[in-house]
Amino acid sequence: MAKTLNVVELECSACAKKYDSATEQHVCTCGKPLLARYDLRRAAATLTLDSLKNRPRTLWRYAEVLPNDPSVSLGEGMTALVHAERLGASIRCGQGGLQRLYVKDEGLNPTGSFKARGMTTAVSRAKQLGAKALAAPTAGNAGGALAAYAAAAGIPAVIVMPADTPSANVMECQAFGAKVVKLNGLISDCGKYVAEHKDREGWYDVSTLKETYRVEGKKTMGYELWEQFVGKLPDVILYPTGGGVGLIGMCKAFDEMEEMGWIGAERPRMVAVQAEGCAPIVRAWEAHQTSAQFFPNATTVASGLRVPGPLGDQLILRMIRQTKGTAVTVTDEEMLQAGRELASLEGIFAAPEGAATVIASRKLAATGWIKPEETVVLFNTGTGYKYAEAWQRALQSAGGGAA
Ligand SMILES: Cc1ncc(COP(=O)(O)O)c(C=O)c1O
Ligand SMILES: [Zn+2]
Repeated sequence: MAKTLNVVELECSACAKKYDSATEQHVCTCGKPLLARYDLRRAAATLTLDSLKNRPRTLWRYAEVLPNDPSVSLGEGMTALVHAERLGASIRCGQGGLQRLYVKDEGLNPTGSFKARGMTTAVSRAKQLGAKALAAPTAGNAGGALAAYAAAAGIPAVIVMPADTPSANVMECQAFGAKVVKLNGLISDCGKYVAEHKDREGWYDVSTLKETYRVEGKKTMGYELWEQFVGKLPDVILYPTGGGVGLIGMCKAFDEMEEMGWIGAERPRMVAVQAEGCAPIVRAWEAHQTSAQFFPNATTVASGLRVPGPLGDQLILRMIRQTKGTAVTVTDEEMLQAGRELASLEGIFAAPEGAATVIASRKLAATGWIKPEETVVLFNTGTGYKYAEAWQRALQSAGGGAA
């Protein structure tokens, strides 16, 4: 049987029901996501800062807390953590700006986004379980990453995306040899399409949080922060939240670290950053709710944030609450303006989703929620190079000389 030795069992994130990790599983009978559980005492015996020194510079260096299948890898992870001194100085916060502002640049991953992290683990596991075809709905970048890893694994992929997904995402999927289905609708409609077709077509469903191992790959962003800050975690993490897998994954990593004795009960305060035009988590957070309502007529240039009904809503809200975090919205104009600042001050050409965290940090510093002495990490989840249409419009209207 396709046994993954590291993962002891899968556990429902809502009702704690247990599932066998050796067979294909998707969601709990209660409909909620399953999370992988490890023997962390065993992991802690060999996974140390010292032991990491000689390991491969990919996320698979955290092998003890990942499924130990033969990996389908394209060199993902270990992205740069850039000390953004000029941007930090420009953020009004007390007397002297933010001195300890960092950008974790996920645009440096294969296929240009942090989605590669989730897909290396998901596709590795799907291959081990004998999947015949992989399918996922996507807002854009996850589709490109799935198509790439499916190609590397030699497994056909079906990518279902909104018709107005950025053209780079469509092209990369086609180039990787995936079948692309474009729908007039949002990622939620694409998700319904996959759910309706998967049994008949024999697809292995890689949808966000309906597949356990994407979270496992994404959680390595948390492990990397710990390693790059040499055994410490930042005070605040700003994360552009669509489906919320990155935020959920990092919080899971922090819980695992506590269980391994690496950190105490303290946590970075997690900030979910959403677009004004699609903000189900922010609305729920502001209304002190524990679950989110479907956000109608979702629209934003940050395609990755156009997720009107995230399946992980309760988990995201719980994690923001438990870490004493918060949730904020930014407008598309603010994102694109902040993206130009990030690019011109730091040399990082960001996806609008990543740029959203810049403006969110400005807002939170201005209100005093972020303090000048705090260590703050902005997640640039993807490269700006994949958003040609959005950047062209923004640069033209700003008189930036786009040809
Ligand atoms: C660039 C980018 N940032 C952020 C997100 C949101 O990711 P998550 O599902 O982890 O909230 C996406 C999702 O498509 C994305 O492509
Ligand atoms: Zn359950």
